[in-house]
Amino acid sequence: KNIVILISGRGSNMQAIVEADIAGANIAAVIANRPDAAGLAWAAERGIATVGLDHKQFASREAFDVQLAAEIDAFNPDLVVLAGFMRILTPTFTARYEGRMLNIHPSLLPAFPGLHTHQRAIDMGCKVAGCSVHFVTAELDHGPIVAQAVVPVLDDDTEATLAARVLQQEHKLYPDAVRRFVAGELTIRAGRVAGVAAPA
Ligand code: GRF
Repeated sequence: KNIVILISGRGSNMQAIVEADIAGANIAAVIANRPDAAGLAWAAERGIATVGLDHKQFASREAFDVQLAAEIDAFNPDLVVLAGFMRILTPTFTARYEGRMLNIHPSLLPAFPGLHTHQRAIDMGCKVAGCSVHFVTAELDHGPIVAQAVVPVLDDDTEATLAARVLQQEHKLYPDAVRRFVAGELTIRAGRVAGVAAPA
């Protein structure tokens, strides 16, 4: 299965997926909306095709998404993986990849869609936090949940310490979710993904 991974920055989730060396998975390309994204250089060093597509060069979100889809489709993807891709996507774009685009979000969805998830969890006094892998739909950080991992929130946590604890789980959860997609184990029925994801 051909996989195209979209990133915006450091790309540690992308690295975890590449390093998982998933049977039947071909990492066809890594694409970033910031040409200076650190993860692009990491991928290029490993011989993976990379594309930097600067969203600031486009007049509108629609125009960027049209070009982004063209770049993605050049690699014939079976699966598109959003890994720290920090752009809101247009409904036309999300519809194009319905059922074959995954995202990871650093909260236990449906709690805390959007930004600053860790600080918001701390501010609410949450006792647990975590991360979710979900299929992408038009609505930001919604869509059928594939897998989740839970971590404790400690009394002395800061945004940084909680983010680091969650990120460790992301690096296990996301490769496993991609492996299950590639193995054909993920089916959406009535808007839900069946099956229990292996807890970390
Ligand atoms: C991750 O925490 C991801 O869940 C969030 O942004 C971060 C990206 O990290 N959306 P990286 O680029 O994968 O290292």
